[in-house]
Amino acid sequence: MDIINIEGGKKLQGTVAISGAKNAALPILAATLLGNGKSTIHHVPDLRDVKSMLSILDVLGAKTTSTNGTVEVDASGELFTKAPYELVSTMRASFCVLGPLLARCGKAEVSIPGGCVIGARPIDLHLKGLEALGAQIKIKHGYISAKAKELRGADIFLGGAFGSSVLATANVMMAATLAKGITRIENAACEPEVVDLALFLKAMGAKISGEGSHLIEIEGVKELKAVKYTVIPDRIETGTFMLAAAMTHSDIEITNVVPSHSGALIDKMRACGVSIETEGDKMRVKMTRKKTESVTVTTLAYPGFPTDLQAQMMAFMTITPGISVITEKIYPDRFIHIAELNRMGARIFLEGASAIVNGVPKLSGAPVMASDLRASAALVLAGLVADGVTEVSRVYHIDRGYERLEEKFSNLGAKIWRESR
Ligand code: UD1
Repeated sequence: MDIINIEGGKKLQGTVAISGAKNAALPILAATLLGNGKSTIHHVPDLRDVKSMLSILDVLGAKTTSTNGTVEVDASGELFTKAPYELVSTMRASFCVLGPLLARCGKAEVSIPGGCVIGARPIDLHLKGLEALGAQIKIKHGYISAKAKELRGADIFLGGAFGSSVLATANVMMAATLAKGITRIENAACEPEVVDLALFLKAMGAKISGEGSHLIEIEGVKELKAVKYTVIPDRIETGTFMLAAAMTHSDIEITNVVPSHSGALIDKMRACGVSIETEGDKMRVKMTRKKTESVTVTTLAYPGFPTDLQAQMMAFMTITPGISVITEKIYPDRFIHIAELNRMGARIFLEGASAIVNGVPKLSGAPVMASDLRASAALVLAGLVADGVTEVSRVYHIDRGYERLEEKFSNLGAKIWRESR
């Protein structure tokens, strides 16, 4: 099993380039199933989750190749319509093949992804949306089986107990591209990754408007063509490096970013005293003040503060003097990293869905265990500023969503290395 070791205390300097967005690449890869021909997707990050998605596309009968960040998917042949448990269970985003398969083949059988360590993660909104389009849905032996002779456009309110859903919006939008008539998704997710998917579908010939707002309108077309497309930069990876620079009191340049996608984080970090300058697709993050200010953060759907940066923000708060509070409004149980950060000397208390963080002067390196993708990144950030060596185990979580993380941090001057035990 691989372990990532970090010897804390090094300042960062230089430039880091951000990879393509995992959460944009995954639904876009699923959407290639809608195109008759070979799609070419650039700037696809080399990640375990991307490999899982390509395995699913292969099992479904598409032919995939992947070289240096460019993925080709040839979905021109006949497709199989069953996405098996062994593959879907490794990653929730694989449930996104349901909409495209249903739209293109009139039927699909996809394993229910199940819960995970960050919470229950239901799929009711996905099913509600597809049913509204006319799909008949059955749940049997752990699989969703959906069929429809013809999908028909509909008005769908896609809101749940925790607001909009990114992947449900993606699934329903993809299915609606080939439905007869007009679909309106109300309370649609506004995340940049949903916009990127919509732009990809539009390049394929779909008629979509309103992406990026809470009302997306889709006029169904007869067919979609395969196209070339480039995925947007990863705003979560961007945020992770921004917080690393601030925590280590460094001055770094981050390239290949879309600064407007990081608005909520930029606002909070500036409020804490971090200098952030943006120009075009570049960002300079500089922390020259001796101390950062404490802060209150609530995770919300975009453009609010992303839940996928909650753990990393908490790592930042651990060494910020005073009391900071971070409230989780998307996944109220997403706090497993608290125990690990506390093992490193942090003082964090959980009060309902809020973590109260008492800043400490110093963290102390320790063996810690990654519990999920973003929690692992938080432990790496903590390791960068802790005394001594931090050993992060179960790093397969990191490999799901961060491309060459230790190499990127090493190039910035951090002392970080991977070890197989
Ligand atoms: C996506 C992201 C994930 C991120 C999350 C929230 C991908 C591949 N993953 O996940 O990294 O943390 O958005 O920004 O893009 N919900 C329901 N019913 C549903 C679906 C969701 O109640 O049918 C709830 C969820 O439990 C959660 C909230 O809605 O409380 C938002 O989840 P959702 O946006 O669906 O997350 P994902 O799209 O799965």
